[in-house]
Amino acid sequence: MRIIQSAREMQEFSEKIRNGGKKISFVPTMGYLHEGHLHLMREGGKRGECLVVSIYVNPTQFGAGEDFERYPRDLERDSQMAESTGVDVIFCPTNSDMYPAHYQTFVNVEEVTQNLCGLSRSGHFRGVATVCCKLFHIVKPHTAIFGKKDFQQLVAIRRMVEDLNMDIKIVGMPTVREADGLAMSSRNAYLKEDERTAALNLSRSLLLAQKLFNDGQRDAAEILKAVTENLKGIPLLRLEYAKICDTETLKDLPHLGKEAVLAMAVYVGKTRLIDNYVFGEALEI
Ligand code: PAJ
Repeated sequence: MRIIQSAREMQEFSEKIRNGGKKISFVPTMGYLHEGHLHLMREGGKRGECLVVSIYVNPTQFGAGEDFERYPRDLERDSQMAESTGVDVIFCPTNSDMYPAHYQTFVNVEEVTQNLCGLSRSGHFRGVATVCCKLFHIVKPHTAIFGKKDFQQLVAIRRMVEDLNMDIKIVGMPTVREADGLAMSSRNAYLKEDERTAALNLSRSLLLAQKLFNDGQRDAAEILKAVTENLKGIPLLRLEYAKICDTETLKDLPHLGKEAVLAMAVYVGKTRLIDNYVFGEALEI
Protein backbone atom coordinates (compact mmCIF):
# COMPACT_ATOMS: atom_id res chain seq x y z
CA MET A 1 0.00 0.00 0.00
CA ARG A 2 1.29 3.46 -0.90
CA ILE A 3 0.77 6.58 1.14
CA ILE A 4 0.68 9.72 -0.99
CA GLN A 5 0.60 13.23 0.48
CA SER A 6 1.07 15.45 -2.50
CA ALA A 7 -1.88 16.27 -4.77
CA ARG A 8 0.40 16.45 -7.80
CA GLU A 9 1.89 13.01 -7.08
CA MET A 10 -1.61 11.56 -6.60
CA GLN A 11 -2.70 12.99 -9.96
CA GLU A 12 0.32 11.51 -11.71
CA PHE A 13 -0.25 8.13 -10.07
CA SER A 14 -3.94 8.09 -11.09
CA GLU A 15 -3.11 9.18 -14.62
CA LYS A 16 -0.79 6.18 -15.00
CA ILE A 17 -3.43 3.79 -13.67
CA ARG A 18 -5.99 5.20 -16.10
CA ASN A 19 -3.55 5.00 -19.01
CA GLY A 20 -3.02 1.35 -18.12
CA GLY A 21 -6.73 0.80 -18.73
CA LYS A 22 -7.50 0.13 -15.07
CA LYS A 23 -10.51 1.39 -13.11
CA ILE A 24 -9.99 3.51 -10.00
CA SER A 25 -12.46 3.31 -7.15
CA PHE A 26 -12.37 5.90 -4.41
CA VAL A 27 -13.58 6.21 -0.83
CA PRO A 28 -13.22 9.72 0.63
CA THR A 29 -13.03 9.78 4.45
CA MET A 30 -11.93 11.96 7.33
CA GLY A 31 -10.17 9.01 8.93
CA TYR A 32 -10.48 7.42 12.36
CA LEU A 33 -11.77 4.48 10.39
CA HIS A 34 -14.46 2.10 11.57
CA GLU A 35 -16.36 -0.84 10.09
CA GLY A 36 -18.69 1.53 8.18
CA HIS A 37 -15.71 2.93 6.27
CA LEU A 38 -14.28 -0.56 5.71
CA HIS A 39 -17.59 -1.65 4.23
CA LEU A 40 -17.31 1.10 1.61
CA MET A 41 -13.72 0.04 0.91
CA ARG A 42 -14.67 -3.59 0.37
CA GLU A 43 -17.30 -2.44 -2.11
CA GLY A 44 -14.67 -0.23 -3.77
CA GLY A 45 -12.37 -3.22 -4.07
CA LYS A 46 -15.03 -5.01 -6.10
CA ARG A 47 -15.61 -2.07 -8.39
CA GLY A 48 -12.10 -1.33 -9.60
CA GLU A 49 -8.53 -2.58 -9.90
CA CYS A 50 -7.08 0.28 -7.93
CA LEU A 51 -8.65 1.34 -4.62
CA VAL A 52 -7.81 4.80 -3.29
CA VAL A 53 -8.92 6.06 0.13
CA SER A 54 -8.46 9.66 1.17
CA ILE A 55 -7.99 10.60 4.78
CA TYR A 56 -8.39 14.30 5.27
CA VAL A 57 -10.15 16.25 8.02
CA ASN A 58 -11.44 19.00 5.80
CA PRO A 59 -11.44 22.36 7.60
CA THR A 60 -13.92 24.05 5.24
CA GLN A 61 -16.80 21.78 6.25
CA PHE A 62 -16.51 22.60 9.95
CA GLY A 63 -18.25 25.66 11.32
CA ALA A 64 -16.94 27.96 14.04
CA GLY A 65 -17.28 26.21 17.38
CA GLU A 66 -17.52 22.76 15.80
CA ASP A 67 -15.10 19.91 16.49
CA PHE A 68 -12.44 20.44 13.79
CA GLU A 69 -9.55 20.64 16.28
CA ARG A 70 -10.60 17.74 18.42
CA TYR A 71 -11.80 15.48 15.57
CA PRO A 72 -10.09 12.11 16.24
CA ARG A 73 -6.98 11.46 14.12
CA ASP A 74 -4.79 8.33 14.01
CA LEU A 75 -3.07 7.76 10.66
CA GLU A 76 -1.03 4.84 11.97
CA ARG A 77 -4.11 2.87 13.02
CA ASP A 78 -6.04 3.93 9.88
CA SER A 79 -3.18 2.77 7.61
CA GLN A 80 -3.19 -0.69 9.17
CA MET A 81 -6.96 -1.02 8.83
CA ALA A 82 -6.91 0.21 5.24
CA GLU A 83 -4.06 -2.08 4.25
CA SER A 84 -5.78 -5.14 5.67
CA THR A 85 -8.89 -4.20 3.68
CA GLY A 86 -7.03 -4.21 0.39
CA VAL A 87 -6.54 -0.48 -0.13
CA ASP A 88 -3.85 0.33 -2.72
CA VAL A 89 -3.29 4.00 -1.93
CA ILE A 90 -4.02 6.27 0.99
CA PHE A 91 -4.14 9.89 -0.07
CA CYS A 92 -3.65 12.16 2.94
CA PRO A 93 -3.01 15.71 1.78
CA THR A 94 -1.94 18.63 3.92
CA ASN A 95 -4.06 21.73 4.49
CA SER A 96 -1.55 23.89 2.65
CA ASP A 97 -1.76 21.62 -0.39
CA MET A 98 -5.57 21.59 -0.39
CA TYR A 99 -6.17 25.21 0.56
CA PRO A 100 -3.06 27.25 -0.24
CA ALA A 101 -2.91 30.98 0.41
CA HIS A 102 -5.29 32.91 -1.88
CA TYR A 103 -7.61 29.91 -2.25
CA GLN A 104 -11.04 31.25 -3.27
CA THR A 105 -13.05 28.70 -5.25
CA PHE A 106 -16.03 26.88 -3.72
CA VAL A 107 -18.79 24.60 -4.97
CA ASN A 108 -22.29 25.33 -3.76
CA VAL A 109 -25.04 22.77 -4.29
CA GLU A 110 -27.94 25.10 -3.76
CA GLU A 111 -31.25 23.44 -2.98
CA VAL A 112 -30.76 20.00 -1.45
CA THR A 113 -28.37 21.48 1.12
CA GLN A 114 -30.93 23.93 2.55
CA ASN A 115 -32.99 21.67 4.78
CA LEU A 116 -31.98 19.22 7.56
CA CYS A 117 -28.31 19.70 8.57
CA GLY A 118 -28.15 22.75 6.28
CA LEU A 119 -30.46 24.59 8.68
CA SER A 120 -27.93 24.63 11.50
CA ARG A 121 -24.59 23.89 9.80
CA SER A 122 -24.34 26.82 7.43
CA GLY A 123 -21.43 26.37 5.01
CA HIS A 124 -21.02 22.69 5.87
CA PHE A 125 -22.16 21.29 2.53
CA ARG A 126 -20.29 23.97 0.64
CA GLY A 127 -17.15 22.62 2.32
CA VAL A 128 -18.10 19.01 1.60
CA ALA A 129 -18.93 19.65 -2.07
CA THR A 130 -15.76 21.69 -2.52
CA VAL A 131 -13.44 19.11 -1.01
CA CYS A 132 -15.11 16.23 -2.88
CA CYS A 133 -14.84 18.16 -6.15
CA LYS A 134 -11.14 18.76 -5.47
CA LEU A 135 -10.55 15.14 -4.42
CA PHE A 136 -12.29 13.92 -7.57
CA HIS A 137 -9.95 16.07 -9.68
CA ILE A 138 -6.93 14.80 -7.81
CA VAL A 139 -7.81 11.08 -7.55
CA LYS A 140 -9.63 10.88 -10.93
CA PRO A 141 -11.83 7.95 -9.90
CA HIS A 142 -14.23 6.05 -12.15
CA THR A 143 -16.37 5.21 -9.12
CA ALA A 144 -16.71 6.89 -5.72
CA ILE A 145 -18.40 5.21 -2.78
CA PHE A 146 -20.33 7.05 -0.07
CA GLY A 147 -22.41 5.94 2.92
CA LYS A 148 -26.14 6.49 3.22
CA LYS A 149 -25.59 7.30 6.88
CA ASP A 150 -24.82 10.83 5.69
CA PHE A 151 -27.90 10.86 3.52
CA GLN A 152 -27.95 14.57 2.69
CA GLN A 153 -24.26 14.48 1.81
CA LEU A 154 -24.87 11.63 -0.63
CA VAL A 155 -27.77 13.48 -2.26
CA ALA A 156 -25.67 16.65 -2.56
CA ILE A 157 -22.71 14.78 -4.10
CA ARG A 158 -24.96 13.04 -6.62
CA ARG A 159 -26.41 16.45 -7.51
CA MET A 160 -22.96 18.02 -7.93
CA VAL A 161 -21.70 15.17 -10.10
CA GLU A 162 -24.72 15.40 -12.36
CA ASP A 163 -24.84 19.20 -12.48
CA LEU A 164 -21.12 19.57 -13.22
CA ASN A 165 -20.95 16.67 -15.73
CA MET A 166 -18.40 14.77 -13.69
CA ASP A 167 -17.83 11.38 -15.28
CA ILE A 168 -17.92 9.48 -11.98
CA LYS A 169 -20.31 6.80 -10.82
CA ILE A 170 -21.52 7.49 -7.29
CA VAL A 171 -22.42 4.43 -5.24
CA GLY A 172 -24.39 4.70 -1.97
CA MET A 173 -23.93 1.99 0.67
CA PRO A 174 -26.21 1.07 3.59
CA THR A 175 -25.46 2.28 7.11
CA VAL A 176 -23.31 -0.08 9.15
CA ARG A 177 -24.41 -0.30 12.79
CA GLU A 178 -23.06 -1.59 16.07
CA ALA A 179 -24.78 -4.77 17.31
CA ASP A 180 -27.13 -2.67 19.46
CA GLY A 181 -28.21 -0.43 16.58
CA LEU A 182 -26.01 2.66 17.01
CA ALA A 183 -24.87 3.85 13.58
CA MET A 184 -21.08 3.70 13.38
CA SER A 185 -19.40 7.09 13.36
CA SER A 186 -15.94 8.41 14.12
CA ARG A 187 -17.71 10.80 16.51
CA ASN A 188 -18.93 7.87 18.66
CA ALA A 189 -15.41 7.97 20.11
CA TYR A 190 -16.47 11.14 21.97
CA LEU A 191 -19.29 9.35 23.86
CA LYS A 192 -18.96 8.52 27.54
CA GLU A 193 -20.71 5.37 28.75
CA ASP A 194 -23.97 7.05 29.80
CA GLU A 195 -24.00 9.10 26.57
CA ARG A 196 -23.47 5.94 24.54
CA THR A 197 -26.57 4.46 26.21
CA ALA A 198 -28.62 7.61 25.57
CA ALA A 199 -27.51 7.60 21.91
CA LEU A 200 -29.27 4.27 21.38
CA ASN A 201 -32.56 6.16 21.37
CA LEU A 202 -31.71 7.48 17.93
CA SER A 203 -31.88 4.08 16.22
CA ARG A 204 -34.79 3.09 18.48
CA SER A 205 -36.72 6.05 17.09
CA LEU A 206 -36.04 4.84 13.56
CA LEU A 207 -37.38 1.40 14.52
CA LEU A 208 -40.49 3.05 15.93
CA ALA A 209 -41.00 4.98 12.67
CA GLN A 210 -40.50 1.78 10.69
CA LYS A 211 -43.12 0.01 12.79
CA LEU A 212 -45.67 2.82 12.34
CA PHE A 213 -45.01 2.81 8.59
CA ASN A 214 -45.35 -0.97 8.39
CA ASP A 215 -48.62 -0.69 10.32
CA GLY A 216 -49.90 1.60 7.57
CA GLN A 217 -49.26 5.11 8.94
CA ARG A 218 -48.59 7.54 6.08
CA ASP A 219 -49.09 10.88 7.84
CA ALA A 220 -45.62 12.39 8.37
CA ALA A 221 -46.79 14.59 11.27
CA GLU A 222 -48.10 11.56 13.16
CA ILE A 223 -44.83 9.67 12.75
CA LEU A 224 -42.80 12.72 13.76
CA LYS A 225 -45.01 13.25 16.81
CA ALA A 226 -44.40 9.68 17.97
CA VAL A 227 -40.66 9.95 17.34
CA THR A 228 -40.39 13.28 19.17
CA GLU A 229 -42.45 12.01 22.12
CA ASN A 230 -40.18 8.99 22.29
CA LEU A 231 -37.09 11.21 22.67
CA LYS A 232 -38.58 13.63 25.21
CA GLY A 233 -37.14 13.63 28.69
CA ILE A 234 -34.20 11.37 27.94
CA PRO A 235 -31.26 12.65 29.99
CA LEU A 236 -28.24 13.95 28.03
CA LEU A 237 -30.17 13.90 24.75
CA ARG A 238 -31.41 16.93 22.84
CA LEU A 239 -33.23 16.64 19.55
CA GLU A 240 -31.99 19.11 16.91
CA TYR A 241 -34.40 17.98 14.21
CA ALA A 242 -36.48 15.05 13.05
CA LYS A 243 -37.94 15.51 9.57
CA ILE A 244 -39.53 13.44 6.89
CA CYS A 245 -38.38 14.46 3.43
CA ASP A 246 -38.55 13.51 -0.22
CA THR A 247 -35.41 11.40 -0.83
CA GLU A 248 -34.48 13.38 -3.95
CA THR A 249 -35.35 17.00 -3.20
CA LEU A 250 -34.97 16.70 0.59
CA LYS A 251 -37.97 18.99 0.97
CA ASP A 252 -40.38 18.25 3.85
CA LEU A 253 -43.03 15.74 2.88
CA PRO A 254 -46.41 15.85 4.66
CA HIS A 255 -47.60 12.53 3.29
CA LEU A 256 -45.59 9.38 2.62
CA GLY A 257 -46.70 8.68 -0.93
CA LYS A 258 -43.33 9.10 -2.65
CA GLU A 259 -40.03 7.69 -1.49
CA ALA A 260 -39.35 9.33 1.85
CA VAL A 261 -36.60 9.49 4.43
CA LEU A 262 -36.81 10.18 8.15
CA ALA A 263 -33.65 12.12 8.98
CA MET A 264 -32.64 13.07 12.50
CA ALA A 265 -29.90 14.97 14.29
CA VAL A 266 -29.47 14.87 18.06
CA TYR A 267 -26.99 16.15 20.56
CA VAL A 268 -25.87 13.63 23.14
CA GLY A 269 -24.01 15.81 25.58
CA LYS A 270 -21.77 17.88 23.30
CA THR A 271 -21.66 15.26 20.53
CA ARG A 272 -23.86 15.74 17.49
CA LEU A 273 -25.07 12.50 15.90
CA ILE A 274 -27.20 11.89 12.80
CA ASP A 275 -29.14 8.90 11.55
CA ASN A 276 -31.88 8.20 9.03
CA TYR A 277 -34.34 5.65 7.77
CA VAL A 278 -35.65 5.34 4.21
CA PHE A 279 -39.25 4.17 4.53
CA GLY A 280 -39.87 0.77 3.01
CA GLU A 281 -36.29 -0.42 3.45
CA ALA A 282 -35.56 -2.98 6.14
CA LEU A 283 -33.69 -1.52 9.10
CA GLU A 284 -30.94 -3.95 10.00
CA ILE A 285 -30.91 -3.61 13.77
P1 PAJ B 1 -16.49 10.50 7.13
O1 PAJ B 1 -17.45 10.93 8.20
O2 PAJ B 1 -15.17 9.97 7.53
O3 PAJ B 1 -17.23 9.41 6.27
C1 PAJ B 1 -16.62 8.88 5.13
C2 PAJ B 1 -17.65 8.03 4.39
O4 PAJ B 1 -18.03 6.94 5.23
C3 PAJ B 1 -18.93 8.81 4.05
O5 PAJ B 1 -19.38 8.46 2.76
C4 PAJ B 1 -19.89 8.34 5.11
O6 PAJ B 1 -21.25 8.42 4.73
C5 PAJ B 1 -19.44 6.90 5.29
N1 PAJ B 1 -19.88 6.36 6.57
C6 PAJ B 1 -19.70 6.91 7.80
N2 PAJ B 1 -20.29 6.15 8.74
C7 PAJ B 1 -20.87 5.10 8.11
C8 PAJ B 1 -21.64 3.98 8.53
N3 PAJ B 1 -21.93 3.78 9.80
N4 PAJ B 1 -22.08 3.13 7.57
C9 PAJ B 1 -21.79 3.32 6.26
N5 PAJ B 1 -21.06 4.37 5.80
C10 PAJ B 1 -20.61 5.24 6.71
O7 PAJ B 1 -18.32 11.97 5.30
C11 PAJ B 1 -17.18 12.39 5.42
O8 PAJ B 1 -16.21 11.71 6.11
C12 PAJ B 1 -16.71 13.70 4.79
O9 PAJ B 1 -17.78 14.59 4.75
C13 PAJ B 1 -16.10 13.52 3.38
C14 PAJ B 1 -17.11 12.95 2.38
C15 PAJ B 1 -14.86 12.63 3.44
C16 PAJ B 1 -15.66 14.91 2.85
O10 PAJ B 1 -14.75 15.50 3.70
